[in-house]
Amino acid sequence: MTSSMNTYWNSRYADGRIWGDDAIPSVKRTSDWFREYYVNEVLVPGCGYGRNSIWLAKQGFQVTAFDVSDVAIQMATEDASRQGVNVNYFVGNLFKPALLNGIQFEGIYLSNVLHLFLSDDRKRLMERMDAMLKPGGMLALTCISVHDQNNYGIGREVEANTFEKHEGKPLHFYTEAEVLQIFEENYEVLTHTLHVQTESDPSGESEDLQLWFVVGKKR
Ligand SMILES: C[S@@+](CC[C@H](N)C(=O)[O-])C[C@H]1O[C@@H](n2cnc3c(N)ncnc32)[C@H](O)[C@@H]1O
Repeated sequence: MTSSMNTYWNSRYADGRIWGDDAIPSVKRTSDWFREYYVNEVLVPGCGYGRNSIWLAKQGFQVTAFDVSDVAIQMATEDASRQGVNVNYFVGNLFKPALLNGIQFEGIYLSNVLHLFLSDDRKRLMERMDAMLKPGGMLALTCISVHDQNNYGIGREVEANTFEKHEGKPLHFYTEAEVLQIFEENYEVLTHTLHVQTESDPSGESEDLQLWFVVGKKR
């Protein structure tokens, strides 16, 4: 999986900063929650080219961030250095159990990564988040919802509420019950809410994504 993921995302990021430079609404909400619960050490898995991890570091959090795409990490590293911001970046696959060698964090911010996988891998991914979070730590994530009328139902339905617009690139759309269910065993859910993220691309087009934003405190 690593090499095909790496190839796919490297080719996406070869087009540059495909969603622009601005930090997204959910990272700002996450920062408020992290502050309220005295989170300082933050992990950003699947950080892309760094627009949110750099923003978090600028807010004073101690940030570690990784992505399977070496192209994205190179862009993020260069941007952080250009801005004089300290983020611990590395290339890594979130499914690798040896990743981070058991180091745990007080907070994890997982933006728009969970919905990229089929059911078994989504379950594994949540287990990985759990393993990388200290007891009492906070997991803040966003994932696409069944209410996203721009994207829901496009392509072949390969699993329930999971569509492949592009072959081999599933997108899973979460119901409210399901986002609550993935947190229920190991977390107290502090908030779960729908919000809109407007994404722009280099062609000047933009689209509104209907996402869940969920914050859980690990038991
Ligand atoms: C939709 S993008 C979201 C990027 C960023 N979190 C954001 O919100 O701007 C998904 C990201 O997950 C990364 N990714 C996909 N599979 C991964 C894996 N197995 N391990 C680490 N990163 C992965 C991709 O390279 C890509 O940067």
